[in-house]
Amino acid sequence: MATAQERIVLISGGAGGAGLAIVQIFAEQGDRVFVIDRAVAEHRVTELGLHQVSFIAADVFDESQVEATIKQVLDAAGRVDVLVNVVGGYAAGQPIHELETATWENMLELNLRATFLLAKHAARPMIAQRWGRIINFAARAGRTTDATTGGYAVAKAGVLALTEVQSKELLPYHITVNAILPSIIDTPANRASMPNAHFDRWPQPVEVARVIRFLASDDAVLISGAGIPVYGQG
Ligand SMILES: NC(=O)c1ccc[n+]([C@@H]2O[C@H](COP(=O)([O-])OP(=O)(O)OC[C@H]3O[C@@H](n4cnc5c(N)ncnc54)[C@H](OP(=O)(O)O)[C@@H]3O)[C@@H](O)[C@H]2O)c1
Repeated sequence: MATAQERIVLISGGAGGAGLAIVQIFAEQGDRVFVIDRAVAEHRVTELGLHQVSFIAADVFDESQVEATIKQVLDAAGRVDVLVNVVGGYAAGQPIHELETATWENMLELNLRATFLLAKHAARPMIAQRWGRIINFAARAGRTTDATTGGYAVAKAGVLALTEVQSKELLPYHITVNAILPSIIDTPANRASMPNAHFDRWPQPVEVARVIRFLASDDAVLISGAGIPVYGQG
């Protein structure tokens, strides 16, 4: 069970390019962190060498696995204080009239369904304890769309709408729900796919993680329903 001071932080997609920095920043401030990601990614979290970080292998597109994950956290720690919904991903390049329906559906599943399922099931223990913080990953493309960003832009706009709806529902329970809108984060995958870009202008994962840490803190109690740009110079 958790001690009185430590917070229980659940991070979906915590083994990814942005997620690892978020895991680290919460662990470093003494929180107990549960990472939910694919089994193959466990070693990336283990390699951080942080004893208060646990890994749960689950497919967050599957509602029964999401429910089981929340139960596992409650059994181990007794609470869920913070949910950071990092799972998401990008595909673009085709106009709507040429967009494969499978790509469209994959973007909605990866960016919106995963966020919805975790926000739905993590909110329940937060309501019971009458405190919580939910931070979702939208993207700049969810607010300022470009041609050929298709399913990704629509899904991230959906994450912003989900954030606003749930923030209103959870206000009476002292639970805030916010989204961040990254531009391009300086991850190894982005460097590999855009080798000639100006990496120095991209926000660092740790800089994004600091914004999330603030939104999860008591100092951010007045902020709920926001979509916060984290573009830096990018
Ligand atoms: N990177 C950017 O420049 C950027 C910009 C704007 C917004 N964002 C948003 O920021 C978030 C993080 O991006 P990122 O670059 O860190 O992504 P990432 O490196 O792909 O990390 C996402 C993690 O989630 C995992 N995951 C995907 N589907 C899952 C599922 N069904 N069940 C369990 N785990 C699953 C991924 O595993 P697999 O890789 O094995 O699928 C990966 O480990 C995303 O929501 C993304 O849309 C990123």
